[in-house]
Amino acid sequence: MEICRTIIEVRNILQNTREAKKSIGLVPTMGALHQGHLKLIEASKKKCDFTVASIFVNPTQFNNPEDLTKYPKTIDEDIIKLTDTGCDALFLPSDEEIYPSPPSLKIKLDNIGEQLEGKFRTGHFDGVGLVVSKLFNIIQPDQAFFGQKDIQQFYIIKALVDQLNFPIQMNMVPTMREPNGLAMSSRNMRLSTEELMEATLIIKTLNKAQERLLSGIDTITVRAEVQKLFSASDRLALEYFEIVNTDDFKPTQQLKDKEKIALCIAAEIGQVRLIDNLMLIS
Ligand code: PAJ
Repeated sequence: MEICRTIIEVRNILQNTREAKKSIGLVPTMGALHQGHLKLIEASKKKCDFTVASIFVNPTQFNNPEDLTKYPKTIDEDIIKLTDTGCDALFLPSDEEIYPSPPSLKIKLDNIGEQLEGKFRTGHFDGVGLVVSKLFNIIQPDQAFFGQKDIQQFYIIKALVDQLNFPIQMNMVPTMREPNGLAMSSRNMRLSTEELMEATLIIKTLNKAQERLLSGIDTITVRAEVQKLFSASDRLALEYFEIVNTDDFKPTQQLKDKEKIALCIAAEIGQVRLIDNLMLIS
């Protein structure tokens, strides 16, 4: 696997790939890679001739400075995992390479960008939009791969691709879970064994809520049941649970378009913020 630390290096490598008429898949990440990230690499390898992963812990998307400093970094292991998965190139830029000076450009999405994660992590999606736009311009992939784990992020980037006319096909890859159902996340590394066990309340709650909604219980009752499940836990604090339509991510009580309804949750445990979601019908 080629490791490129500068924009010039990665562009040079990709020029040869493009000239050979090979399709390029991009998997943007912030490292501390787990099986979920590697699923995205596998999905890209299936659809594209050449797969590029990027690892960049993007400072502009962290609204909490402590979360940024505590973000796990396991670069040596990441390189081994990517190589073993057959990734063709890794773009591993420094902060200065991506932000030679503090950016004055803001990429802000109204509506969808202001819901859920946008509400609870002010400015988060502005930073995501900015860095992903930069990565798209640097790599110029044919296809890009993102996880359902961050479903709102996927739809925000899709809106960006549509509105800025990036000629990139977006792919959403299903969430990889631990055998107990907990969604894999780089942040899980910061949890103790007991906290990891307790955190399974998140997926248990989502499963229960999905089952209740599908059996015809109304959204207000289900929301109240979720609050109750969390109030019984000493360690997990519920930040939000919302039943939304993926068109705008606004809470909805209307469940007619079942395939567009997502159940989204964010909770904190041991000062670590975890998110997860399920589609109403998957
Ligand atoms: P990061 O949290 O490292 O995630 C990188 C990609 O992996 C995202 O598309 C995310 O949805 C996906 N992912 C994470 N956990 C997953 C799981 N359990 N199953 C499937 N996919 C999973 O998301 C970011 O980085 C950043 O915001 C980024 C897009 C790189 C911009 O900085």
